[in-house]
Amino acid sequence: MLEQTVQIVSQERDAEAYFRLVLKAPQIAPLIQPGQFAHVRILPMKDALLRRPFSIFQTTSDTFSILYKNVGKGTDVLARMRAGEELSVIAPLGHGFTVPSVGGETPLLVAGGYGMAALYLLAQRSPQKGIVFVGGRRRVDILCEKDFAAIGWEVRVATEDGSHGETGFVTQPLLAELKRGQMVPDRKVKLYACGPTPMLQAVGKLAEEFNVPAELSMDEHMCCGVGTCLACVIKVKTGGENWEYQRTCTEGPVYDSRQIVWETAK
Ligand SMILES: Cc1cc2nc3c(=O)[nH]c(=O)nc-3n(C[C@H](O)[C@H](O)[C@H](O)COP(=O)(O)OP(=O)(O)OC[C@H]3O[C@@H](n4cnc5c(N)ncnc54)[C@H](O)[C@@H]3O)c2cc1C
Ligand code: FES
Repeated sequence: MLEQTVQIVSQERDAEAYFRLVLKAPQIAPLIQPGQFAHVRILPMKDALLRRPFSIFQTTSDTFSILYKNVGKGTDVLARMRAGEELSVIAPLGHGFTVPSVGGETPLLVAGGYGMAALYLLAQRSPQKGIVFVGGRRRVDILCEKDFAAIGWEVRVATEDGSHGETGFVTQPLLAELKRGQMVPDRKVKLYACGPTPMLQAVGKLAEEFNVPAELSMDEHMCCGVGTCLACVIKVKTGGENWEYQRTCTEGPVYDSRQIVWETAK
């Protein structure tokens, strides 16, 4: 993990409120594992002391990018920044996804909205191609379809308003696939998900129902991002009836779905 001031290489609007931001970071880029995040201080902001966490989307040998939605004060300032301007980043942070092994389970990725950003590197580095299930409210919330297709992944889409793909939640096509998979002898799958908490909980429930492993990237509000403030804790099972608080910024954000105590996840 490094703390550095880095330069913006490019910033492009992806769709409506979504932006792709590429940062020059030759020392950080080679360290990045799928599912890790960057904690970004948006230097032109007045209260720039508070960093914002963003999943690391794509990397090259000397850059990494984030894919973000303009939702508030920080991201609004970020969206106005241009190539050549600087940000302070701490990265890579967190415990990411386990990259599938050769001959292991078929990976099924599940993303809601900007959750796609956390899953791209996993898909790219996986020796096995699988299916990525993408959900969002509307067509504009369906990100990266082309990026995943370009690396050979099948993409299945669901939108709540029916404007693209199947109508409904992303868990519908996932459920259909899990049912279909049950008919195929010796087919083993593993789920990897990133998105809003209700979606993660629904994916965790399906994993339990179909007895398949699942890794979930938890989306909690963060402050320090490095394990000192405890703003990001969730309850995590430690065996039997026991649980403990863990920091999603350091022990997470990715957990085995069976570890999460859902009633108390924020
Ligand atoms: C590990 C991690 C990875 C993330 N990756 C991405 C990413 O790849 N792309 C992306 O667009 N966003 C991502 N986020 C969410 C992102 O950090 C927030 O959207 C951002 O901090 C909002 O900053 P702001 O100042 O614009 O919003 P604020 O003005 O601070 O808040 C605006 C709204 O955003 C909500 N918000 C703030 N933080 C979060 C959060 N963690 N989750 C959900 N809602 C939040 C607030 O409740 C409020 O409603 C990630 C969050 C975490 C914890
Ligand atoms: S954000 Fe401070 S401990 Fe996790």
